[in-house]
Amino acid sequence: MATLGHEVIGIDTDKAKIDALAAGEAPFYEPGLPELLAEALATGRLRFSSDVADIRGSAVHFICVGTPQLPGEIAADLSYVDSSVASILPHLSTGDLVVGKSTVPVGTAEHLTTVLDDASTGALLAWNPEFLREGHAVKDTLHPDRLVYGVPVGVEGGDRAVNLLDEIYAATIADKIPRLVTDLATAQLVKVAANSFLATKISFINAMAELCEATGADVSVLADAIGHDERIGRKFLNAGLGFGGGCLPKDIRAFMARAGELGADQTLAFLHEVDAINNRRRIRMVEIARDECGGSISGLRVAVLGASFKPNSDDVRDSPALDIATTLHRQGVPVRVYDPAALESARRVRPELAYTSTLHDACQDADVTLVLTEWAEFSGVDPVSLADVVRRPVVVDGRLVLDADKWRAAGWRVHALGRGPRSAPA
Ligand code: UDX
Repeated sequence: MATLGHEVIGIDTDKAKIDALAAGEAPFYEPGLPELLAEALATGRLRFSSDVADIRGSAVHFICVGTPQLPGEIAADLSYVDSSVASILPHLSTGDLVVGKSTVPVGTAEHLTTVLDDASTGALLAWNPEFLREGHAVKDTLHPDRLVYGVPVGVEGGDRAVNLLDEIYAATIADKIPRLVTDLATAQLVKVAANSFLATKISFINAMAELCEATGADVSVLADAIGHDERIGRKFLNAGLGFGGGCLPKDIRAFMARAGELGADQTLAFLHEVDAINNRRRIRMVEIARDECGGSISGLRVAVLGASFKPNSDDVRDSPALDIATTLHRQGVPVRVYDPAALESARRVRPELAYTSTLHDACQDADVTLVLTEWAEFSGVDPVSLADVVRRPVVVDGRLVLDADKWRAAGWRVHALGRGPRSAPA
Protein backbone atom coordinates (compact mmCIF):
# COMPACT_ATOMS: atom_id res chain seq x y z
CA MET A 1 0.00 0.00 0.00
CA ALA A 2 2.89 2.38 0.76
CA THR A 3 4.46 1.40 -2.57
CA LEU A 4 1.16 2.27 -4.25
CA GLY A 5 1.53 5.76 -2.79
CA HIS A 6 -0.54 5.65 0.41
CA GLU A 7 0.23 6.62 4.00
CA VAL A 8 0.19 3.32 5.90
CA ILE A 9 0.31 2.21 9.50
CA GLY A 10 0.68 -1.53 10.14
CA ILE A 11 -0.70 -2.81 13.45
CA ASP A 12 0.05 -6.12 15.15
CA THR A 13 -0.34 -7.29 18.74
CA ASP A 14 3.12 -8.93 18.54
CA LYS A 15 5.46 -6.16 19.69
CA ALA A 16 8.61 -8.06 18.69
CA LYS A 17 7.30 -8.40 15.14
CA ILE A 18 6.41 -4.71 15.01
CA ASP A 19 9.88 -3.70 16.24
CA ALA A 20 11.53 -5.94 13.64
CA LEU A 21 9.37 -4.54 10.83
CA ALA A 22 10.07 -0.96 11.91
CA ALA A 23 13.78 -1.83 11.76
CA GLY A 24 13.28 -3.10 8.19
CA GLU A 25 13.36 -6.82 9.00
CA ALA A 26 10.79 -9.01 7.22
CA PRO A 27 9.29 -11.48 9.72
CA PHE A 28 9.39 -14.38 7.24
CA TYR A 29 11.23 -15.46 4.09
CA GLU A 30 9.62 -13.97 0.99
CA PRO A 31 11.68 -13.10 -2.10
CA GLY A 32 11.71 -9.34 -2.77
CA LEU A 33 9.98 -8.41 0.50
CA PRO A 34 13.05 -7.08 2.40
CA GLU A 35 13.88 -4.77 -0.53
CA LEU A 36 10.27 -3.58 -0.85
CA LEU A 37 10.05 -3.01 2.90
CA ALA A 38 13.28 -0.95 2.88
CA GLU A 39 12.04 1.15 -0.05
CA ALA A 40 8.66 1.75 1.60
CA LEU A 41 10.23 2.68 4.97
CA ALA A 42 12.55 5.10 3.19
CA THR A 43 9.56 6.98 1.72
CA GLY A 44 8.39 7.75 5.29
CA ARG A 45 4.88 6.62 4.26
CA LEU A 46 5.08 3.30 6.15
CA ARG A 47 5.00 3.05 9.94
CA PHE A 48 4.31 0.21 12.39
CA SER A 49 2.74 0.17 15.84
CA SER A 50 1.43 -2.31 18.41
CA ASP A 51 -0.99 0.31 19.76
CA VAL A 52 -4.29 -0.03 17.91
CA ALA A 53 -5.24 3.55 18.90
CA ASP A 54 -2.69 4.64 16.27
CA ILE A 55 -5.24 3.81 13.55
CA ARG A 56 -7.05 7.05 14.45
CA GLY A 57 -7.07 9.38 11.48
CA SER A 58 -6.84 6.57 8.89
CA ALA A 59 -9.78 6.42 6.49
CA VAL A 60 -9.46 2.78 5.43
CA HIS A 61 -8.72 -0.19 7.71
CA PHE A 62 -7.65 -3.54 6.23
CA ILE A 63 -8.23 -6.67 8.32
CA CYS A 64 -5.45 -9.08 7.28
CA VAL A 65 -5.26 -11.57 10.17
CA GLY A 66 -5.14 -15.35 9.82
CA THR A 67 -8.07 -17.76 9.94
CA PRO A 68 -6.37 -21.07 10.82
CA GLN A 69 -8.14 -24.39 11.28
CA LEU A 70 -9.64 -24.82 14.75
CA PRO A 71 -7.81 -27.56 16.70
CA GLY A 72 -9.70 -30.83 16.39
CA GLU A 73 -12.27 -29.41 13.94
CA ILE A 74 -12.45 -28.68 10.24
CA ALA A 75 -13.95 -25.20 10.69
CA ALA A 76 -11.92 -21.99 10.62
CA ASP A 77 -10.93 -20.13 13.78
CA LEU A 78 -12.40 -16.64 13.39
CA SER A 79 -11.23 -15.36 16.74
CA TYR A 80 -8.44 -13.23 15.23
CA VAL A 81 -10.86 -11.58 12.80
CA ASP A 82 -13.40 -10.97 15.55
CA SER A 83 -10.86 -9.58 18.01
CA SER A 84 -9.15 -7.32 15.48
CA VAL A 85 -12.51 -5.82 14.46
CA ALA A 86 -13.50 -5.44 18.13
CA SER A 87 -10.17 -3.70 18.86
CA ILE A 88 -10.65 -1.03 16.18
CA LEU A 89 -14.29 -0.22 17.05
CA PRO A 90 -13.50 2.58 19.58
CA HIS A 91 -11.17 4.28 17.10
CA LEU A 92 -13.35 4.35 13.97
CA SER A 93 -14.95 7.52 12.61
CA THR A 94 -18.12 7.98 10.60
CA GLY A 95 -17.45 7.30 6.93
CA ASP A 96 -14.41 5.05 7.54
CA LEU A 97 -14.13 1.93 5.41
CA VAL A 98 -13.22 -1.40 7.01
CA VAL A 99 -11.96 -3.86 4.37
CA GLY A 100 -11.72 -7.59 5.01
CA LYS A 101 -8.77 -9.37 3.34
CA SER A 102 -8.78 -12.53 5.45
CA THR A 103 -10.20 -15.76 4.00
CA VAL A 104 -13.47 -16.31 5.85
CA PRO A 105 -16.56 -18.52 5.74
CA VAL A 106 -19.32 -16.84 3.76
CA GLY A 107 -21.55 -14.89 6.15
CA THR A 108 -18.66 -13.48 8.20
CA ALA A 109 -18.75 -10.07 6.45
CA GLU A 110 -22.50 -9.78 7.02
CA HIS A 111 -21.97 -10.56 10.72
CA LEU A 112 -19.16 -7.97 11.00
CA THR A 113 -21.38 -5.36 9.34
CA THR A 114 -23.81 -5.86 12.22
CA VAL A 115 -20.93 -5.51 14.71
CA LEU A 116 -19.96 -2.14 13.17
CA ASP A 117 -23.60 -0.99 13.12
CA ASP A 118 -24.35 -2.13 16.69
CA ALA A 119 -21.38 -0.10 17.93
CA SER A 120 -22.73 2.92 15.98
CA THR A 121 -19.34 3.43 14.36
CA GLY A 122 -20.79 4.94 11.17
CA ALA A 123 -18.15 2.86 9.34
CA LEU A 124 -18.84 0.74 6.28
CA LEU A 125 -17.59 -2.80 5.58
CA ALA A 126 -16.30 -4.22 2.28
CA TRP A 127 -14.60 -7.55 1.42
CA ASN A 128 -11.56 -7.54 -0.85
CA PRO A 129 -10.14 -11.10 -0.93
CA GLU A 130 -6.41 -11.68 -1.24
CA PHE A 131 -5.12 -14.12 -3.86
CA LEU A 132 -1.35 -13.88 -3.41
CA ARG A 133 0.83 -16.98 -3.44
CA GLU A 134 3.67 -17.36 -0.97
CA GLY A 135 6.98 -17.12 -2.77
CA HIS A 136 5.41 -14.73 -5.31
CA ALA A 137 3.75 -12.39 -2.83
CA VAL A 138 5.36 -9.15 -4.01
CA LYS A 139 4.48 -9.63 -7.67
CA ASP A 140 1.01 -11.00 -6.89
CA THR A 141 0.25 -7.99 -4.68
CA LEU A 142 1.55 -5.27 -6.97
CA HIS A 143 0.33 -6.96 -10.17
CA PRO A 144 -2.63 -9.17 -9.24
CA ASP A 145 -4.65 -11.23 -11.77
CA ARG A 146 -7.83 -9.50 -10.67
CA LEU A 147 -9.36 -7.30 -7.99
CA VAL A 148 -12.60 -8.32 -6.33
CA TYR A 149 -14.58 -5.80 -4.30
CA GLY A 150 -17.45 -7.18 -2.24
CA VAL A 151 -19.60 -4.27 -1.16
CA PRO A 152 -23.00 -4.00 0.52
CA VAL A 153 -25.78 -3.93 -2.04
CA GLY A 154 -28.64 -1.45 -1.85
CA VAL A 155 -27.13 0.72 0.85
CA GLU A 156 -26.05 4.27 0.32
CA GLY A 157 -22.40 3.61 1.14
CA GLY A 158 -21.96 0.84 -1.47
CA ASP A 159 -20.82 3.24 -4.21
CA ARG A 160 -18.63 5.13 -1.77
CA ALA A 161 -16.85 1.87 -0.87
CA VAL A 162 -16.20 1.18 -4.56
CA ASN A 163 -14.86 4.70 -5.10
CA LEU A 164 -12.54 4.45 -2.10
CA LEU A 165 -11.22 1.06 -3.22
CA ASP A 166 -10.70 2.46 -6.74
CA GLU A 167 -8.69 5.27 -5.21
CA ILE A 168 -6.58 2.80 -3.22
CA TYR A 169 -5.94 0.59 -6.26
CA ALA A 170 -5.68 3.42 -8.82
CA ALA A 171 -2.18 2.35 -9.90
CA THR A 172 -3.26 -1.29 -10.23
CA ILE A 173 -6.40 -0.43 -12.20
CA ALA A 174 -4.30 1.74 -14.53
CA ASP A 175 -2.46 -1.52 -15.42
CA LYS A 176 -5.79 -2.78 -16.88
CA ILE A 177 -6.20 -5.44 -14.17
CA PRO A 178 -9.75 -6.86 -14.27
CA ARG A 179 -11.86 -5.49 -11.42
CA LEU A 180 -15.08 -7.17 -10.35
CA VAL A 181 -17.61 -5.51 -8.06
CA THR A 182 -19.86 -8.00 -6.26
CA ASP A 183 -22.07 -8.35 -3.22
CA LEU A 184 -20.40 -9.39 0.05
CA ALA A 185 -21.38 -13.08 -0.17
CA THR A 186 -19.91 -13.54 -3.66
CA ALA A 187 -16.63 -11.88 -2.71
CA GLN A 188 -16.18 -14.19 0.29
CA LEU A 189 -17.06 -17.23 -1.83
CA VAL A 190 -14.71 -16.29 -4.69
CA LYS A 191 -11.68 -16.90 -2.52
CA VAL A 192 -12.67 -20.31 -1.15
CA ALA A 193 -14.00 -21.38 -4.56
CA ALA A 194 -10.64 -20.47 -6.18
CA ASN A 195 -8.63 -22.38 -3.57
CA SER A 196 -11.00 -25.38 -3.74
CA PHE A 197 -10.60 -25.49 -7.52
CA LEU A 198 -6.79 -25.38 -7.25
CA ALA A 199 -6.81 -28.12 -4.58
CA THR A 200 -9.13 -30.24 -6.75
CA LYS A 201 -6.84 -29.83 -9.76
CA ILE A 202 -3.84 -31.03 -7.74
CA SER A 203 -5.74 -33.98 -6.27
CA PHE A 204 -7.07 -34.90 -9.72
CA ILE A 205 -3.55 -35.25 -11.12
CA ASN A 206 -2.47 -37.11 -7.98
CA ALA A 207 -5.35 -39.57 -8.46
CA MET A 208 -4.00 -40.07 -11.99
CA ALA A 209 -0.56 -40.56 -10.39
CA GLU A 210 -1.96 -43.45 -8.32
CA LEU A 211 -3.18 -45.07 -11.55
CA CYS A 212 0.14 -44.42 -13.26
CA GLU A 213 1.96 -46.15 -10.40
CA ALA A 214 -0.36 -49.15 -10.79
CA THR A 215 -0.02 -49.37 -14.56
CA GLY A 216 3.53 -48.30 -15.35
CA ALA A 217 2.40 -45.03 -16.94
CA ASP A 218 4.11 -41.67 -16.41
CA VAL A 219 2.01 -38.96 -14.77
CA SER A 220 4.27 -36.08 -15.88
CA VAL A 221 3.79 -36.96 -19.55
CA LEU A 222 0.08 -37.48 -18.93
CA ALA A 223 -0.14 -33.99 -17.36
CA ASP A 224 1.74 -32.46 -20.33
CA ALA A 225 -0.58 -34.20 -22.78
CA ILE A 226 -3.87 -33.21 -21.14
CA GLY A 227 -2.50 -29.77 -20.28
CA HIS A 228 -2.13 -28.91 -23.98
CA ASP A 229 -5.93 -28.77 -24.09
CA GLU A 230 -6.51 -25.07 -23.38
CA ARG A 231 -9.68 -25.93 -21.49
CA ILE A 232 -7.60 -27.94 -19.02
CA GLY A 233 -4.27 -26.06 -18.99
CA ARG A 234 -0.94 -27.38 -17.66
CA LYS A 235 -0.70 -25.12 -14.61
CA PHE A 236 -1.33 -26.73 -11.19
CA LEU A 237 -1.08 -30.21 -12.68
CA ASN A 238 2.23 -31.06 -11.03
CA ALA A 239 1.78 -34.43 -9.39
CA GLY A 240 3.75 -35.48 -6.34
CA LEU A 241 3.25 -35.05 -2.63
CA GLY A 242 0.27 -32.76 -3.06
CA PHE A 243 -0.70 -29.52 -1.44
CA GLY A 244 0.15 -28.15 1.99
CA GLY A 245 0.58 -24.71 3.49
CA GLY A 246 -1.56 -22.37 5.51
CA CYS A 247 -4.29 -21.98 2.87
CA LEU A 248 -5.38 -24.82 0.58
CA PRO A 249 -5.79 -27.61 3.20
CA LYS A 250 -7.59 -25.53 5.82
CA ASP A 251 -9.64 -23.59 3.25
CA ILE A 252 -11.22 -26.68 1.70
CA ARG A 253 -12.00 -28.01 5.17
CA ALA A 254 -13.51 -24.72 6.39
CA PHE A 255 -15.54 -24.56 3.16
CA MET A 256 -16.98 -28.04 3.87
CA ALA A 257 -17.75 -27.00 7.45
CA ARG A 258 -19.59 -23.88 6.28
CA ALA A 259 -21.50 -25.81 3.61
CA GLY A 260 -22.64 -28.18 6.37
CA GLU A 261 -23.90 -25.26 8.45
CA LEU A 262 -25.80 -24.02 5.40
CA GLY A 263 -27.43 -27.46 4.99
CA ALA A 264 -25.49 -28.06 1.76
CA ASP A 265 -22.97 -30.70 2.90
CA GLN A 266 -23.63 -32.92 -0.15
CA THR A 267 -22.60 -30.06 -2.43
CA LEU A 268 -19.00 -30.14 -1.28
CA ALA A 269 -18.73 -33.86 -0.46
CA PHE A 270 -16.20 -34.17 -3.30
CA LEU A 271 -13.78 -32.02 -1.28
CA HIS A 272 -13.53 -34.86 1.28
CA GLU A 273 -12.11 -36.97 -1.54
CA VAL A 274 -9.78 -34.15 -2.63
CA ASP A 275 -8.44 -34.03 0.93
CA ALA A 276 -8.20 -37.84 1.16
CA ILE A 277 -6.26 -38.18 -2.12
CA ASN A 278 -3.90 -35.47 -0.89
CA ASN A 279 -3.27 -37.22 2.41
CA ARG A 280 -2.72 -40.56 0.67
CA ARG A 281 0.30 -39.13 -1.16
CA ARG A 282 2.10 -38.59 2.14
CA ILE A 283 1.29 -42.14 3.31
CA ARG A 284 2.50 -43.54 -0.01
CA MET A 285 5.77 -41.62 0.26
CA VAL A 286 6.42 -43.00 3.74
CA GLU A 287 5.76 -46.54 2.41
CA ILE A 288 8.18 -46.03 -0.47
CA ALA A 289 10.83 -44.57 1.82
CA ARG A 290 10.53 -47.51 4.19
CA ASP A 291 10.66 -50.01 1.28
CA GLU A 292 13.77 -48.30 -0.02
CA CYS A 293 15.31 -48.70 3.43
CA GLY A 294 14.99 -52.43 2.80
CA GLY A 295 13.24 -53.38 6.01
CA SER A 296 16.02 -53.03 8.58
CA ILE A 297 16.73 -49.52 9.73
CA SER A 298 19.55 -50.11 12.13
CA GLY A 299 22.56 -48.06 11.09
CA LEU A 300 20.61 -46.43 8.25
CA ARG A 301 20.64 -42.76 7.30
CA VAL A 302 17.86 -41.02 5.42
CA ALA A 303 18.42 -37.60 3.85
CA VAL A 304 15.28 -35.45 3.65
CA LEU A 305 15.60 -32.59 1.16
CA GLY A 306 12.95 -29.99 1.91
CA ALA A 307 10.97 -28.86 4.95
CA SER A 308 8.85 -25.98 3.61
CA PHE A 309 5.46 -26.70 2.01
CA LYS A 310 6.67 -25.19 -1.27
CA PRO A 311 9.86 -23.62 -2.64
CA ASN A 312 10.80 -19.96 -2.02
CA SER A 313 9.08 -20.00 1.34
CA ASP A 314 10.06 -20.80 4.93
CA ASP A 315 6.46 -21.72 5.77
CA VAL A 316 6.13 -25.21 7.24
CA ARG A 317 2.41 -25.08 8.04
CA ASP A 318 0.87 -28.42 6.98
CA SER A 319 4.04 -29.10 5.00
CA PRO A 320 4.02 -32.52 3.29
CA ALA A 321 7.84 -32.60 3.57
CA LEU A 322 7.97 -31.98 7.30
CA ASP A 323 5.01 -34.30 7.86
CA ILE A 324 6.81 -37.17 6.11
CA ALA A 325 10.09 -36.49 7.93
CA THR A 326 8.19 -36.52 11.26
CA THR A 327 6.31 -39.74 10.46
CA LEU A 328 9.54 -41.51 9.50
CA HIS A 329 11.22 -40.21 12.66
CA ARG A 330 8.34 -41.49 14.80
CA GLN A 331 8.66 -44.88 13.12
CA GLY A 332 12.28 -44.99 14.22
CA VAL A 333 13.82 -44.08 10.86
CA PRO A 334 16.77 -41.72 11.41
CA VAL A 335 16.25 -38.67 9.17
CA ARG A 336 18.43 -35.62 8.56
CA VAL A 337 16.55 -32.68 7.13
CA TYR A 338 17.94 -29.90 4.95
CA ASP A 339 16.02 -26.91 3.55
CA PRO A 340 17.46 -23.75 1.97
CA ALA A 341 15.18 -21.40 3.97
CA ALA A 342 12.90 -23.23 6.40
CA LEU A 343 15.36 -24.77 8.91
CA GLU A 344 14.54 -22.26 11.63
CA SER A 345 10.76 -22.50 11.24
CA ALA A 346 10.96 -26.31 11.02
CA ARG A 347 13.11 -26.52 14.14
CA ARG A 348 10.57 -24.41 16.04
CA VAL A 349 7.70 -26.84 15.42
CA ARG A 350 9.69 -30.10 15.14
CA PRO A 351 12.68 -29.73 17.46
CA GLU A 352 12.99 -33.52 17.70
CA LEU A 353 14.27 -33.87 14.10
CA ALA A 354 17.93 -33.63 13.08
CA TYR A 355 18.72 -30.72 10.74
CA THR A 356 21.78 -29.90 8.65
CA SER A 357 22.84 -26.56 7.26
CA THR A 358 23.86 -27.91 3.85
CA LEU A 359 22.45 -30.40 1.35
CA HIS A 360 25.82 -32.15 1.36
CA ASP A 361 25.66 -32.73 5.14
CA ALA A 362 22.13 -34.16 4.96
CA CYS A 363 23.26 -36.58 2.24
CA GLN A 364 26.56 -37.60 3.87
CA ASP A 365 26.58 -41.44 4.00
CA ALA A 366 22.79 -41.52 3.34
CA ASP A 367 21.22 -44.82 2.36
CA VAL A 368 18.17 -43.12 0.83
CA THR A 369 17.69 -39.52 -0.30
CA LEU A 370 14.14 -38.13 -0.37
CA VAL A 371 13.30 -35.00 -2.42
CA LEU A 372 10.18 -33.60 -0.76
CA THR A 373 10.05 -29.90 -1.74
CA GLU A 374 10.68 -28.65 -5.27
CA TRP A 375 13.48 -26.17 -4.48
CA ALA A 376 15.64 -25.30 -7.53
CA GLU A 377 18.72 -26.23 -5.45
CA PHE A 378 17.55 -29.86 -5.39
CA SER A 379 16.67 -30.23 -9.08
CA GLY A 380 19.94 -28.46 -9.96
CA VAL A 381 22.23 -30.64 -7.85
CA ASP A 382 24.91 -32.62 -9.69
CA PRO A 383 24.02 -36.32 -9.29
CA VAL A 384 27.58 -37.39 -10.21
CA SER A 385 29.24 -35.59 -7.29
CA LEU A 386 26.35 -36.36 -4.91
CA ALA A 387 26.81 -40.08 -5.65
CA ASP A 388 30.23 -39.83 -3.95
CA VAL A 389 28.69 -38.27 -0.83
CA VAL A 390 25.93 -40.83 -0.12
CA ARG A 391 26.44 -44.43 1.04
CA ARG A 392 23.84 -45.82 -1.39
CA PRO A 393 22.80 -43.83 -4.50
CA VAL A 394 19.04 -44.25 -4.05
CA VAL A 395 16.74 -41.27 -4.50
CA VAL A 396 12.96 -40.97 -4.16
CA ASP A 397 11.62 -37.98 -6.07
CA GLY A 398 8.43 -36.88 -4.32
CA ARG A 399 7.98 -33.80 -6.51
CA LEU A 400 8.93 -35.16 -9.95
CA VAL A 401 11.59 -32.51 -10.39
CA LEU A 402 14.71 -34.60 -11.02
CA ASP A 403 15.96 -35.49 -14.49
CA ALA A 404 15.64 -39.25 -13.90
CA ASP A 405 17.77 -40.22 -16.94
CA LYS A 406 20.61 -38.00 -15.80
CA TRP A 407 20.49 -39.42 -12.26
CA ARG A 408 20.37 -42.99 -13.54
CA ALA A 409 23.33 -42.29 -15.83
CA ALA A 410 25.19 -41.14 -12.71
CA GLY A 411 24.52 -44.53 -11.11
CA TRP A 412 21.45 -43.70 -9.03
CA ARG A 413 18.42 -45.84 -8.49
CA VAL A 414 15.52 -43.41 -8.99
CA HIS A 415 12.02 -43.95 -7.63
CA ALA A 416 9.63 -41.20 -8.71
CA LEU A 417 6.18 -40.80 -7.20
CA GLY A 418 3.60 -41.15 -9.97
CA ARG A 419 5.78 -43.16 -12.30
CA GLY A 420 5.05 -46.83 -12.48
CA PRO A 421 7.36 -49.85 -12.14
CA ARG A 422 8.05 -49.99 -15.88
CA SER A 423 9.48 -46.47 -15.92
CA ALA A 424 11.43 -46.98 -12.67
CA PRO A 425 14.27 -49.50 -12.53
CA ALA A 426 13.78 -52.62 -10.44
C1 UDX B 1 -2.58 -20.63 -2.35
C2 UDX B 1 -3.27 -20.03 -3.60
O1 UDX B 1 -2.52 -20.44 -4.78
C3 UDX B 1 -3.31 -18.51 -3.49
O2 UDX B 1 -4.00 -17.97 -4.62
C4 UDX B 1 -4.04 -18.14 -2.21
O3 UDX B 1 -4.06 -16.73 -2.04
C5 UDX B 1 -3.35 -18.78 -1.01
O4 UDX B 1 -3.28 -20.19 -1.19
P1 UDX B 1 -0.04 -20.84 -1.54
O5 UDX B 1 -0.59 -21.48 -0.30
O6 UDX B 1 1.03 -19.82 -1.42
O7 UDX B 1 -1.22 -20.15 -2.36
O8 UDX B 1 0.56 -22.03 -2.42
P2 UDX B 1 0.28 -22.65 -3.86
O9 UDX B 1 1.24 -22.13 -4.84
O10 UDX B 1 -1.15 -22.59 -4.23
O11 UDX B 1 0.68 -24.17 -3.57
C6 UDX B 1 -0.02 -24.90 -2.58
C7 UDX B 1 0.53 -26.29 -2.47
O12 UDX B 1 0.20 -27.05 -3.62
C8 UDX B 1 2.05 -26.41 -2.31
O13 UDX B 1 2.31 -27.38 -1.31
C9 UDX B 1 2.51 -26.89 -3.67
O14 UDX B 1 3.71 -27.64 -3.59
C10 UDX B 1 1.34 -27.73 -4.12
N1 UDX B 1 1.20 -27.84 -5.58
C11 UDX B 1 1.01 -26.72 -6.34
C12 UDX B 1 1.23 -29.09 -6.15
O15 UDX B 1 1.37 -30.12 -5.48
N2 UDX B 1 1.07 -29.19 -7.51
C13 UDX B 1 0.89 -28.10 -8.31
O16 UDX B 1 0.75 -28.27 -9.53
C14 UDX B 1 0.86 -26.82 -7.69
